[in-house]
Amino acid sequence: MDLSTTYLGLTLPHPLMPGASPLVDDLDMVRRLEDAGASAIVMHSLFEEQIIAEQREALFLERNAESHSEATSYLPDPGIFALGPDEYLEQVQRIRRTVAVPVIASLNGTTPQSWIEYARLIEQAGAHALEINVYHVPTDPLEDGEEVDRRTLDTAAAVKGAVSIPVAVKLSPFYSSFAALARRLDAAGADGLVIFNRFYQPDIDIEALDVLPTVRLSDSGDLLLRLRWLAILSGRVKASLAVTGGVHTGADAIKSVMAGAHAVQMVSALLRRGPEHLSRVRDEMSQWMEEHGYESLKQMQGSMSLVRSGNPAALERANYMRVLQSWRQSRVN
Ligand SMILES: Cc1cc2nc3c(=O)[nH]c(=O)nc-3n(C[C@H](O)[C@H](O)[C@H](O)COP(=O)(O)O)c2cc1C
Repeated sequence: MDLSTTYLGLTLPHPLMPGASPLVDDLDMVRRLEDAGASAIVMHSLFEEQIIAEQREALFLERNAESHSEATSYLPDPGIFALGPDEYLEQVQRIRRTVAVPVIASLNGTTPQSWIEYARLIEQAGAHALEINVYHVPTDPLEDGEEVDRRTLDTAAAVKGAVSIPVAVKLSPFYSSFAALARRLDAAGADGLVIFNRFYQPDIDIEALDVLPTVRLSDSGDLLLRLRWLAILSGRVKASLAVTGGVHTGADAIKSVMAGAHAVQMVSALLRRGPEHLSRVRDEMSQWMEEHGYESLKQMQGSMSLVRSGNPAALERANYMRVLQSWRQSRVN
């Protein structure tokens, strides 16, 4: 079965790869991922806070005086990150030497300035592509949707202008008009859109009156939101599309490709079941496709795209009413 795909201009034997996660901190794990057939390795993010913490430390040593501004007092203790900025760059080089598949690094920040220097360093360290992880919760009621979009667009444009490797933008669904933002990122030259980051959702401990920083791993139900937006964008943007969030089985991967994904990233499934799960998902995909008469992945790619319907908005509305109706019918039966 020909599962080959093109993602960020990279020709890959199949679309399955680990998404950004701490799995890649350990070179043995990276080898296991390659042995399981990962078509690329996506690294976890280097966070702006790490870069600022290092710069702050350098400044402190230079001036030999401690300075605490209110803005930086929220910075996490640099010790919580497994790899500092220099170690991250070294890890890019180590992974490059360890595996033959493409290495996609990741940067997370909130201001364009801090991204540019590290985007360049990551490129110099040998990454084949860069994912920018735009994880930002707009909490300022005075900041409107256009300003939030503008920040994302400026970041993407700044990074794109700073490097020559392909740049993918990893997004959340929480924009006032996601399709419009995707179109603008596409026009600004983003090579890929990674759909969607899963936001950390804090819970409240009502006894301790504290915030619980829980990481909930996904299940296949998380995929549905991604399928919808892949299907809306597929065929309407030049950028490659990657899915992240809720891919656990061969069927999940098949749905993602049908909705338009060129790359399929998995994290929760691999954290839960080990890197070898990636090869099981690939086998399930191939087997299903063979049983259903497909000869290649490209035949299937985007087959469920809403662009084929001519009027995605009308189809979405019709489906909405159909779903409500089906629930009433199921109660009658
Ligand atoms: C423990 C953990 C660490 C993660 N670290 C990062 C990260 O550094 N950068 C990033 O863009 N996404 C990060 N993610 C998000 C994942 O890459 C992925 O988008 C998300 O988990 C949804 O995919 P899944 O359903 O396959 O887990 C992390 C997720 C988990 C569970």
